[in-house]
Amino acid sequence: MIARRLLALAATPVLAALLAGASQGGGATPGAPTAGDPYFPQSGDGGYHVVHYRIGLGYTPASRHLDATAVLTSRATQNLSSFDLDLSGLTVSSVRIDGRSVAFSRSGVKLKVTPAHALPKGRTFTTTITYAGVPKDVTDPDGSADGWIVQKDGSVFVASEPQGAMTWFPSNSHPLDKSTYQVSVTVPDGWTAVSNGRLQNRRSSHGRTTFDWRETSPMAAYLATASIGRFQVQSYRTASGLPVYNAVDPAEAKAAAPVLAQIPAVIAWESKLFGPYPFDAAGAIVEHAHGVGYALETQTRPVYDRAPDIDTLVHETAHQWFGDSVSLDRWKDIWLNEGFATYAEWLWDAQHGGPSTAQRLATDYALPAGNDLWAFPAGDPGEAANIFGTPPYERGAMVLEKLRERVGDRAFFTILRSWAGDRRYGHGDTAQFIELSEKISGRKLDSLFATWLYGQGKPATL
Ligand code: ARG
Ligand code: ZN
Repeated sequence: MIARRLLALAATPVLAALLAGASQGGGATPGAPTAGDPYFPQSGDGGYHVVHYRIGLGYTPASRHLDATAVLTSRATQNLSSFDLDLSGLTVSSVRIDGRSVAFSRSGVKLKVTPAHALPKGRTFTTTITYAGVPKDVTDPDGSADGWIVQKDGSVFVASEPQGAMTWFPSNSHPLDKSTYQVSVTVPDGWTAVSNGRLQNRRSSHGRTTFDWRETSPMAAYLATASIGRFQVQSYRTASGLPVYNAVDPAEAKAAAPVLAQIPAVIAWESKLFGPYPFDAAGAIVEHAHGVGYALETQTRPVYDRAPDIDTLVHETAHQWFGDSVSLDRWKDIWLNEGFATYAEWLWDAQHGGPSTAQRLATDYALPAGNDLWAFPAGDPGEAANIFGTPPYERGAMVLEKLRERVGDRAFFTILRSWAGDRRYGHGDTAQFIELSEKISGRKLDSLFATWLYGQGKPATL
């Protein structure tokens, strides 16, 4: 019976790999070459957790060339005979574990590393990867570009949701694995490189400037950035002492200024609604990269492809609580990010002369059954190509308004604050959100979520 089950399981590549490893003896097996997410099966790796990334990049805008070293401090979560990192393109010249050169191979977007001796479960080890080349962004299932996106002038827009981290550093690229980061970028004088968290140091020599950044809160790989441009930089502290660092492409500076000036007010307003701001830094990177077509909530410091409007700023800032501090377990739950950030826009608009959230819900509900809004349920996009479609955003916000209508303001805002507070720096999935909502409101909410979050098409009544 057991043998039969194993044989059946061995038909899947991951388990076949595990079984092959098991037969090599020592009880150590290869880490699975996937985090097991059906939407992005090639993303992430099993068998280890990355505690900390120390990434050093040297970038030359004129040639687009990147010279890099990544030092990953990891902990084995099983007895590991080998493991994978996600890396797309680029040339790896060496991999060392705890300082010693080890064997490695490339296959598709996987960099497979085989230590000289198996790494026992619980062991902390460092992996140093030296690599170089001209990074190339990846095309997502929905056709958008993601990762290291170079502009005509050599500046770089780095936004890696969901899978683009692999275009610029070797990582365990799934939000299940969160880590702290140090990113140092060296660019020619006159250029500025901006990453997450706080700027620790900046130094110049021989015509090149190095920017040392540090993110001290756990971060999913897709939220890391190292955007590079000829930016105008502004840095200051908010009234409550939070350091803000904004880097803005001169072509967008005039349009961006009044909106960026609202960053402290937006953070203060969202902190009242959602609980304390989760991170120790804030700011914005505003590029002139209209071809990209989106912004991203890169942790502490969202990156915008143009001067944002206030709604976009409110949206990306709300993601710091919903998506960044509290991460997804799987991409199917994307409404937990996008629905919540969209609802933050509804709340902002309602308090700043726009329609009430109830009116927003009614206006959306009035859209005809053939509208994109009803194409698939917010809670079940069905495939990777749909995660940034309209339903996770707009229907996701509608779900929250239906919840608020049902449980009342007091319970509703307690639910939002508890979600962000209880799961700060961690993870949450939809079932846990429903459970929390039922617990706080004392109501059974399964039919509400069945209809509004998981229902196919337009619900029969509002
Ligand atoms: N999370 C971003 C936002 O809504 C959108 C990212 C879109 N990414 C992409 N590859 N299309 O704020
Ligand atoms: Zn969003």
